[in-house]
Amino acid sequence: MQLISRIDALRQELWRHRLNGASIAFIPTMGNLHEGHLQLIDRAHEYADVVVSSIFVNPLQFGPGEDFNGYPRTFEADQSKLAERGCHVLFAPSVDEMYPDTQVSSTIVKVPHLSSIHCGASRPGHFTGVATVVTKLFGIVQPDYAVFGLKDFQQFLVIKQLTEDLCLPVEIIGAPIARAESGLALSSRNGYLSAEQLDTAAALYRCLADVRTQIDNGNSHYSELEEAAQIRLEEAGFKRDYFNICRQQDLQPATTEDTDLVILAAAYMGQARLIDNLHFHRL
Ligand code: PAF
Repeated sequence: MQLISRIDALRQELWRHRLNGASIAFIPTMGNLHEGHLQLIDRAHEYADVVVSSIFVNPLQFGPGEDFNGYPRTFEADQSKLAERGCHVLFAPSVDEMYPDTQVSSTIVKVPHLSSIHCGASRPGHFTGVATVVTKLFGIVQPDYAVFGLKDFQQFLVIKQLTEDLCLPVEIIGAPIARAESGLALSSRNGYLSAEQLDTAAALYRCLADVRTQIDNGNSHYSELEEAAQIRLEEAGFKRDYFNICRQQDLQPATTEDTDLVILAAAYMGQARLIDNLHFHRL
């Protein structure tokens, strides 16, 4: 695996592959890689000849008081995991390389509506930071495919929307959520949890699964289901953020007419803010 930290060097390397007729799949990450990320690499291999990943902890998507400084950085271990999984090129730029001069991008990419609800309401500016860095990375890598985990369902829709709106020639692929045996969605932020908290945190997935079962059994009192789920999560030891039953296409509150649903949830366990979702076709 080649490790490249400069934009011009990456471009040169990828042009070489393109001239040979190779297709390119891209997996952007912020590092601290777990099995979920590595499954994205496996997925990318199914689509393209050359698999490129990036590790960049993007300051633009962290709000004041969030965990940018404390975000786990495990570069050496990440590098070995990517190489073992057959990643061909790892792009690991510095903040200066991505945001020269001011360390912030002066052009921002904002996807309205989708960016201000759910996680966007709890983390103002977060999705603009994500949309901006992903657009820059797409401009740098120019991939044919880009693979994102569906745990960040809202992020996935934001990226799909910007790709469509800006006519970017990249196909966005969503990969299933990787879970621990307990059902807990794998996340870099699980590293903030103690062994006991890790056990408790699995209640988030159980709660999502139970609400789905109730919906499939015909319960369409969505507000009541949402409130009951929040109370159950609090009883399990979470601090509430949101638990919303939405329609998949635009993440607006689901009505009884909607059949393609997603239940989006975020909750705090200690210092960790965990997110998860279940997307499904209502029976
Ligand atoms: O999902 C993430 O890890 C990040 O939001 C992403 C897409 C790499 C952008 O920084």
